[in-house]
Amino acid sequence: MTKPRIFVTRIIPEEGLEMIRREADVEVWQDPLPPSCKMLRQKARGMDALLCLLTDRIDENLIAAIGPQLKVISQMAVGFDNIDVAAATARGIPVGNTPGVLTDTTADLAWALLMAAARRVVEGDKFTRAGKWKTWGPIDFLGPDVTGAALGIIGFGRIGQGLAKRAQGFDMRILYFSRRRHPEAEQKYGAQYADLDTLLREADFVSLHTTLSEETHHLIDDARLKLMKSGAILINTARGPVVDQAALYRALSSRTIAYAALDVTDPEPIKPDDPLLTLDNIIIAPHIGSASYRTRARMATMAAENLIAGLKDVRLPNCVNPQVYDRIPG
Ligand code: NAP
Ligand code: GLV
Repeated sequence: MTKPRIFVTRIIPEEGLEMIRREADVEVWQDPLPPSCKMLRQKARGMDALLCLLTDRIDENLIAAIGPQLKVISQMAVGFDNIDVAAATARGIPVGNTPGVLTDTTADLAWALLMAAARRVVEGDKFTRAGKWKTWGPIDFLGPDVTGAALGIIGFGRIGQGLAKRAQGFDMRILYFSRRRHPEAEQKYGAQYADLDTLLREADFVSLHTTLSEETHHLIDDARLKLMKSGAILINTARGPVVDQAALYRALSSRTIAYAALDVTDPEPIKPDDPLLTLDNIIIAPHIGSASYRTRARMATMAAENLIAGLKDVRLPNCVNPQVYDRIPG
């Protein structure tokens, strides 16, 4: 019997590849950089399934070009804003993602960025390496206290709540804004719902954890940055376009806000001539929120499970468009 054919758009942890190889003929894109749109189209054409990453643009044209035999699109990430899910749904193709397994790891990174920004760790490291450390300075490298400060969490889902859990240990006042109230989590983490403007006015730290959608695109813009405290620190581990990056440059360079720490930018990677890179009051990590050995291995196996289920016409364990299963056959 001929095996199904799969295209995997990058080398992923072996744990996941091994599972897929048992079920299918697998072609893995070997380059460390993602395939171009043209190359992706060429490689994916005729495949029965696609295992993709957030760096791949999976639009309607690509889905159509792959062909009617395509049974499943499995993304090794929780966010899936790079995929035209409506186009996949219209063709009855389930789309899988990897929620949950990366929650703690990403919340850890958000917390690490918050602490590193507050305590100016990256600036301090650069200072030391530049040979500028001459003495202990009573008024050098001062930053705000984290303990007891107000933390504003925008997007109170899995990772947003994960951050609240960490903040509890630092006696922080936790405010959150989300589409809906989360009464159980309010109770569990001592968090208080606030409308967006109130949160921005009152928080010492603002951390972004929404999905990226039309609604959240440039949610943080000039006007909202101006609402924030002058000493506030903005953390973004969600998606780059949730923040208007030009507005962020204006806010940081004019000290409208004190500091930012980003794991995500718009575009990715950030352009080498982006003015944000000229500032001292920002930390920019290269989208490493889920980058722990264990988490990436679990993401790979979860993506493999989704993919194998799709090949076998079984409901994906983690499906972002379950409507595909509501259809009446024929
Ligand atoms: P999640 O549990 O689905 O949480 C997303 C939250 O965003 C939900 O609580 C949702 O609100 C909220 N939200 C959506 N639209 C909103 C809006 N218009 N206004 C306010 N809140 C809104 O997802 P998650 O697992 O926490 O992941 C969140 C995002 O983090 C992912 O989509 C991904 O983009 C990003 N991420 C980044 C990394 C990284 O490496 N940096 C790693 C993992 C994830 P309600 O609950 O109120 O409906
Ligand atoms: C990473 O950014 C993810 O969405 O999993």
